[in-house]
Amino acid sequence: MADAPDLPFGYRVLALGEVDSTNLFALDRARAGVPGGLWILAERQSAGRGRQGRAWVSEPGNLYCSLLLRDPAPAANLGELPLVAALAVHDAVADMLPPDRRPALEIKWPNDLLLAGAKISGMLIEGEARPEGRVVVIGIGVNCRHHPSDTPYPATDLAASGLDVAPGDLFVALAARFARRLGEWQGGGFDRLREAWLARARGLGKAITVRLPGETVDGLFDGLDAAGRLVLRTRDGRTRTISAGDVFFG
Ligand code: BTN
Repeated sequence: MADAPDLPFGYRVLALGEVDSTNLFALDRARAGVPGGLWILAERQSAGRGRQGRAWVSEPGNLYCSLLLRDPAPAANLGELPLVAALAVHDAVADMLPPDRRPALEIKWPNDLLLAGAKISGMLIEGEARPEGRVVVIGIGVNCRHHPSDTPYPATDLAASGLDVAPGDLFVALAARFARRLGEWQGGGFDRLREAWLARARGLGKAITVRLPGETVDGLFDGLDAAGRLVLRTRDGRTRTISAGDVFFG
C-alpha cells in the first residue's frame, strides 16, 4: 500500500502487502517492545487465523487488520473489550451503508457482524502477559469483495449486497470509530456501551443454540450480564452465563 492513511491522534499504522497473519505480526511487534496504538494492515494474509483454531481465508479485496494495545483496561474489565470492539466495527461498516440498509447490520454475540443474517466480519482477540504489562491484539477481518462458502455459519460480503467498499476506505473509518469507542469505554465505563451493543444485537429474546468447546446448549437469548457475558435461559428455567462460544439462531 502506497500512502499511510490518516489516523486519530495517538495511533500509527504499518500497511503491508502480504503477511502471514496481522495478529501474529502485531504480537511479534509487541514482543519487540513497540508501544500500543499500532494498527497492522495487510492486503493479503497467507495464514489468516479465525476463532477456535479455524483458518481465515484472506485473498486480496477484503480488510485484514489488527490493533495492538497495551494494558487497555484493568484485568477485571478486559472481557468487555470484545463487545466494545464489535460496536466499533459495526459503526464503521454502517458508515459505508446507505441509511436504509443499516438496520440489516447486526452483531452476533460476541463480535461477529451480520448483514441480512449472514456473516460479514469476524474478530480474533489474542493477548499475552509480558513483564512490562498485558498486550492485547484485536484482529478484524471484513468481507468487502469475497466470502468463503464452507463455513459453520453462512457468510456474505459487501459487494454481494451491491456495495462497493474499498478495504482502505473502510480501514480509515474503522480506525476513527475504534478510537472513539475505546475512548468512551476507557473514560465512561461499559454500561452505555452495553446498551448500545444490545440495541444492535441479533436474536435478543429468541431461541439460540450456543456451541461451547465440550457441549451444545439451547435456550433463549436473555441479554448480557454487566460484564458482557451472554445470558441464556434454558428450557428447565435456569439461567446460564456464557463467556465464550459460537451462537446459532433458530
Ligand atoms: C473469526 O473466526 O470470526 C475471526 C476471524 C478474524 C480474522 C482476522 S483478519 C485480521 C486478523 N488476522 C488474523 O489472522 N485474523 C484476524
